Amino acid sequence: MKHFQSPTRRRFLSWAALGLGWVTQACQPSPRSTPKKTSTGEIELTVMIGAQEIPTWKPVIEQWEAQQSQIRINIIEGPTATNLVEDLYTSAFLLGESPYDLIFMDIVWVPKFAAAGWLLDLSDRLSEADLTDFLKADVAGGRYEGGLYRLPARTDAGMLFYRKDLLAAAGYQPPETTLELLKIAQDLQVQKKVRWGYLWQGRQYEGLPAMFVEVLAGYGGFWINPETQDVGLDRPEALNALRFLAETIAAGIAPSGVTTYQEEETRRMFQNGDALFLRNWPYVWPLANAADSPVRGNIAIKPMVHAPGFASAGCLGGWGWGIAKSTRHPEAAWQAVQHLCSSLAQKQIALSYGYLPTRRSLYQDTEILQKYPFFPSMLTVLESAVLRPPIAQYAQASDILQRYLSAALSKRMSPDQALKSAANETRRLLGKKT
Ligand code: GLC
Repeated sequence: MKHFQSPTRRRFLSWAALGLGWVTQACQPSPRSTPKKTSTGEIELTVMIGAQEIPTWKPVIEQWEAQQSQIRINIIEGPTATNLVEDLYTSAFLLGESPYDLIFMDIVWVPKFAAAGWLLDLSDRLSEADLTDFLKADVAGGRYEGGLYRLPARTDAGMLFYRKDLLAAAGYQPPETTLELLKIAQDLQVQKKVRWGYLWQGRQYEGLPAMFVEVLAGYGGFWINPETQDVGLDRPEALNALRFLAETIAAGIAPSGVTTYQEEETRRMFQNGDALFLRNWPYVWPLANAADSPVRGNIAIKPMVHAPGFASAGCLGGWGWGIAKSTRHPEAAWQAVQHLCSSLAQKQIALSYGYLPTRRSLYQDTEILQKYPFFPSMLTVLESAVLRPPIAQYAQASDILQRYLSAALSKRMSPDQALKSAANETRRLLGKKT
C-alpha cells in the first residue's frame, strides 16, 4: 500500500446549481493524472476512506498486497463524517475524470450513486450461491433497480450501551422503554452516581437521522415510505420521538452539548465513565473494554429502548465495497472487492475493531465468539433493524431532516414547527403535494 496521502486540492462547488445538494468544500486528489500503473507494472487502485476507518483497512490491504504482486491500493484519507466523504466522491464523479477505482460505501449512498450511473453493476460477477453467506438486508442495501452495486464488508446497528455495574448497584434492570431510561438516568444522576444519564449523536450530520430513525421507529413512526413516498415526519409519532430527545436535554440527562456530538465524542465520554447510557454502534465495545478503559468489564450492550407498547429498532448501518464505472481496471478492482469482503478480511476487522461481519458463518466462529459473546444476539437486532429510506434522493432528504432536527434540538424552532417544515420540504423534494 502506498502511504495514504492527505487531500491535495480544494474545490468549491455549488451543488445547489446542479440540483444535487448543497455547497460543499471538496478536497480531491489530482484526477486521472494519478499513475494507474506503478513503475514495476503493478496496477494501482485508488479509494477514499474516512480517516477513522483507515487503521481498520490498512492492515487488511497490506496483507493482501503481500500475498500477490499485481495490485496495489492507494488510500486517500477522507473526512470522518460519512456525508462529507460522500460529498467528496460526489464532486469527483460530477467533475468527471474521477481518480477513484474503488469506493468504500456507506449503505445509504448506494441508491444515489447507482441512479447516477457512477457504479459498476456487480450482479453478473456473483451467483445467488455466492451471496448466501451474506446477511440479506446488507445485500439488499447494495441493490438498486435490479443491479448489485456494493458488496457488504461490515454491517452496523444502533445499540444501547449501559453501565451494568451502576445499574446492578442501584438494583435496576436495563431499561426496555424510553420512560424507564429517563427514570433510571435521573435517579442515578440525583444520587450522584454518574454525571450524565444518556448520550446520543445530536450534531447536524448523517449520524443524527441514523439515530433519530430508530427512536422514530421505537415510537411507531416512519420517515419516508420508499414504496409510496409518503412522509411521516409531521405525524404525532415523530413529534413524540423528537420530544423524547429534547426531554433528555431539558432534564439535564444529556448535556446541552449533545447537539454538537458525533459518535466519537459520545464514545469518549462514556468510556471515561461519565455516562450511564450511550446510543452508538458496536465498534464501541472493544474500545470501551480495552485494557486502559476506565469502564472495562463494566459495560453491557442491548437493543435500543422504545416507547411503551412498541418494539425496539436499531438503525441498519454498514459499509461495503463497490467499483467506479469509470475505472480502467475493473478486473483488478473486482479482485480487490472479493478480498475485502472475504471471510478472512471480515474476521480480521471484527477481531481488531469489533465490526459486525456481513457473513453469517462468522457469527459461529469460535475466536469471534470468544471475544464477543454477544455477537449472535446481534443477528436478532439486525433482522429487526430499521432502514433509512433507500431512495435516490436520500442525501437531500437526510440533509433536510438534519437541519430541522438540529434547529429543534438547539431550540431555534419548536419541535412541532420543525417537523412540519421538514415534512413539507421532504414532500417537495419527492414531488408530493404539501
Ligand atoms: C456508521 C454507520 C453508517 C452511518 C454512520 C452515521 O458508520 O455504519 O451507516 O451512516 O455511522 O454516522
